[in-house]
Amino acid sequence: MRIKTFIISSFVVIVLYAFTNITTHQSKSIFKPPSNFPEPVYNFEQNPVTKAGFELGRYLFYDTRLSGNYKISCGFCHIQSDAFTQHGHIVSHGINNRTGIRNAPPVMNLAWATSFMLDGRAATLDEQPLIPITDHVEMDCSIDTIIERLQPDKVYRSMFKKAFGSSIITEQNILKALSQFMLLCISANSKYDKVMRNEGETFTADEAAGYEVFKRTCNGCHKEPLFTDYSFRSNGFNIVSAEDKGAFNITQDSADIYKFKVPSLRNLVYTAPYMHNGQLYQFKSIIPQYRFYVENNPNLDTLLVHEGKRGFDMTDKEAEQLEAFLQTLNDSSFVNNPALSEPDIQYKADIF
Ligand code: HEC
Ligand code: HEC
Repeated sequence: MRIKTFIISSFVVIVLYAFTNITTHQSKSIFKPPSNFPEPVYNFEQNPVTKAGFELGRYLFYDTRLSGNYKISCGFCHIQSDAFTQHGHIVSHGINNRTGIRNAPPVMNLAWATSFMLDGRAATLDEQPLIPITDHVEMDCSIDTIIERLQPDKVYRSMFKKAFGSSIITEQNILKALSQFMLLCISANSKYDKVMRNEGETFTADEAAGYEVFKRTCNGCHKEPLFTDYSFRSNGFNIVSAEDKGAFNITQDSADIYKFKVPSLRNLVYTAPYMHNGQLYQFKSIIPQYRFYVENNPNLDTLLVHEGKRGFDMTDKEAEQLEAFLQTLNDSSFVNNPALSEPDIQYKADIF
């Protein structure tokens, strides 16, 4: 009797062990949060990042077959050397040279974002790509067309099989793969990060003084270490008659007029022009704008008003120091990371 119990319980233990091993193997994510970042908010359980899924997402991100006329990829507007923005374009340029209404934001550190798009109209990263894919001025395509185009391609069939266990291409797996690529677009190797992680770098006296200025001004909204708190606010840079009313377009609540998602301040050297409408062209104009030109817009954030005066009070010296600090947030390893670059596009020969 005892032997029997022993055999049965050993069997149960072995089965349980094998099962947990399989599940942990399957969900073993290659996503590693930087040690100076908080816990990510993306639900990795429903889409663990694997090497095969990430690589597939990278191919999709740079594939022009995702657009109606085979010419526009996600990477067309989110260019790696510009920290995944479309440098030089005030508002994005898409299919057939049609223009959008907003400046393309970086694809960066999205595992920590709580909503997507500058007005927050995508609640999850997995659903976000449906917006540019179907948008008339961006890619003007449909998921069905994309599946029709990719399914005959044997390279894709094998990549989908490796990533998701089936070579049948589905909407869900296209979106999951795109998310896996974007989730690994992590920028966390700036001088600031190295100082914070005690990796041997130190701030200069000006950068250290600028960090103090930053903490008493910008950090209220551009909260470190991601340099955004993901909230929607009005920073008083909009002309009152501007047509784009930001989050109001989605909520129809007048308290949201001119509120836009607070963007990160990482990689500013690569991402000009700035703001949702690209209204600031130069890095040098950012701080003067916050010191002297904050307008009395509806819903202007109270953090930008001090004793009845709009904008931040600081000396010219402090402004220079703040600029020096902002420069420590640039991360050249992110814009040069070969793993995030456009893959060799040999596979195109397969369909044409
Ligand atoms: C024509 C240019 C263009 C193309 C093509 C494009 N995007 Fe974008 N992307 C933008 C613009 C502009 C925004 C901001 C739009 C808004 O807020 O209304 C944006 C926003 C985003 C965001 C939200 C970022 C954030 O911080 O909220 C993500 C993620 C993104 N795009 C990924 C993609 C993916 C994936 C593709 C391909 C399927 C793609 N984009 C194709 C221009 C483009
Ligand atoms: C009250 C909240 C708030 C404070 C404080 C604040 N900002 Fe902003 N910031 C915003 C919002 C909201 C946007 C987006 C506006 C838009 O898209 O038009 C923004 C956008 C920016 C951008 C554009 C980034 C891009 O990628 O387009 C820069 C640069 C910037 N802020 C720098 C600063 C600096 C420097 C300070 C401190 C001197 C500061 N901000 C203080 C809310 C704030």
